[in-house]
Amino acid sequence: MTPRPVKSPWLSVVGVGDDGARGLSPIARRAIENADMIFGAKRQLAGLGPVRARTVPWGAPFVKSVARVRRYRGRSVVVLATGDPMWYGIARTLLRTIPAAEMRVIPSASAFSLAAARLGWLVEDVETVSAHSGPTERIIPLIQPGARILALCKNGRTPAAAARILVERGFGPSRLTALSHMDGPKEKVRAATAARWRGRAVPDLTTLAIECIPSKNAQVLSSAPGLPDNAFQHDGNMTKRDVRAVTLCALAPQPFGVLWDIGAGCGAVSVEWCRAAKGASAFAVEPSRKRLALIEANALALGAPGLNIVPGRAPAAYKGLAPPDAVFIGGGVAVTGVLEGAWRRLNPLGRLVANAVTLEGEARLQAWREKHGGELVRIEIAYAEPLGGFHGWRPQRPVTQWRGGKS
Ligand SMILES: C[S@@+](CC[C@H](N)C(=O)[O-])C[C@H]1O[C@@H](n2cnc3c(N)ncnc32)[C@H](O)[C@@H]1O
Repeated sequence: MTPRPVKSPWLSVVGVGDDGARGLSPIARRAIENADMIFGAKRQLAGLGPVRARTVPWGAPFVKSVARVRRYRGRSVVVLATGDPMWYGIARTLLRTIPAAEMRVIPSASAFSLAAARLGWLVEDVETVSAHSGPTERIIPLIQPGARILALCKNGRTPAAAARILVERGFGPSRLTALSHMDGPKEKVRAATAARWRGRAVPDLTTLAIECIPSKNAQVLSSAPGLPDNAFQHDGNMTKRDVRAVTLCALAPQPFGVLWDIGAGCGAVSVEWCRAAKGASAFAVEPSRKRLALIEANALALGAPGLNIVPGRAPAAYKGLAPPDAVFIGGGVAVTGVLEGAWRRLNPLGRLVANAVTLEGEARLQAWREKHGGELVRIEIAYAEPLGGFHGWRPQRPVTQWRGGKS
């Protein structure tokens, strides 16, 4: 059934700070005064004081509550949010089913802005991340010498988890500041280095500021592709560092881009794709159970929340996957349908990169090039190693790479 047209926004999404109604702007107050229904967390609804509207606390599961909001389409509805609803806030869920044109968003200061103001950090110089809607490991790709990170916390134990992650990577001297209940009557600050943080917990409503300071034995991992092989857990079956860097360059990671990594091994290419661009995601297709476990471990340890593990073999495993912006075939190019199936599903302007180390695989890529054009590249890497009392080149197995794109 086509929904009836609604002329003006019926839904006001009002950001509220920890100071509740006191901190609301006149526009936000008016939206609340004129509302028929107000949805929000119990704590936020209580903070409003007496209102004319019917108040409805969020229930579980949350998506069901959002579906309830939609049932009042056309009435005057307010949804209470924390801080800026558009920044790791409720708007993401609402926008899945309610058009932006039907919504009026009235933000208040986000936790990031409040924290930056207290620390004297310029927001544009800071990395922002949510360890509220995902694992604390999300901070990992942001850990760089000198980086400043603001992380929303899931609960009062998140800073301790972040401290552990920093110490494990040799960033124990990093300065942590936990800013709790900012702007509210229970505002509190707790600071210590990661090494000294230990298990201490803070209030659940906390934003964590991290000033990353490496120790001498820090593991510094760039977000640029070509991480050392030993940054990954692997069983030897992986695209090695130099070839991996060249391969990722050809795949050209893009913000919110989708990669299919066929025969993912330990997931090194998928992990680097996800680390290289904001919102990038990958489907790592791999039949070996043992390697699936490696992919999972690497995605978590190296901070690749957009990595989806797909157990199975190509091309059968392609079914149901979101269409890719880039495809990497690291093994199995000679298997019937692997190249064709991926090429068919590749988005316009998408890139396909296939590597082969066997003569059969190389022959397949040559035939593929005759049909589809593109570039055939031979990658030969050699490392200098001791040879007797001198040094000599130890060549790695050469790799033949086909690169092509769809117009
Ligand atoms: C679902 S997120 C919402 C963030 C919100 N959209 C914003 O712009 O602040 C909730 C998290 O924000 C952080 N947060 C929100 N208000 C805060 C406050 N007053 N003091 C400290 N942290 C706060 C906490 O990390 C909390 O777990």
